[in-house]
Amino acid sequence: MTQIYQKSEVAERNGKNGQPVWLIYKGNVYDVTTFVKKHPGGDDLILEVAGKDATKAFNKAGHSPDAVQQLREYKIGEVAIDEQPKPLTAVQSADVQQEKQPQQPPKQAEKSSNSFCCC
Ligand code: HEM
Repeated sequence: MTQIYQKSEVAERNGKNGQPVWLIYKGNVYDVTTFVKKHPGGDDLILEVAGKDATKAFNKAGHSPDAVQQLREYKIGEVAIDEQPKPLTAVQSADVQQEKQPQQPPKQAEKSSNSFCCC
């Protein structure tokens, strides 16, 4: 079964004070503690994103498919999806208000005094 980690748990593993080095890449959590010293781009670049979402930094560095493959070896789980829904913007909440408005019943056909009846 896939292990799910909270973002706060990952944030604690930032390589500081003897902590391991975890990072997030595309929603997955990686323990790269043993890889940091082996990184061809230097350990400092990984430590900068330790405990954080490294997706942008990793992609920006233009890694080879081989590097992506290498990363997979260190996967330990997935990051939990934010539990708190983001507060609605003013525009969105106005939309919700409108949706709650009861629908007007369809108007009954008005009887017209001069309508023609064949029966
Ligand atoms: C933690 C997972 C990471 C893995 C497994 C990884 C792996 C690698 C590998 C295999 C290379 C050699 C070139 C290649 O095959 O693309 C490389 C180079 C490089 N990496 Fe990473 N990397 C990681 C994270 C990062 C991060 C977060 C950065 C931040 C910017 C970064 C920046 C670089 C740079 C700049 C190079 C080029 C080094 C050079 O050619 O002088 N890497 N990485």
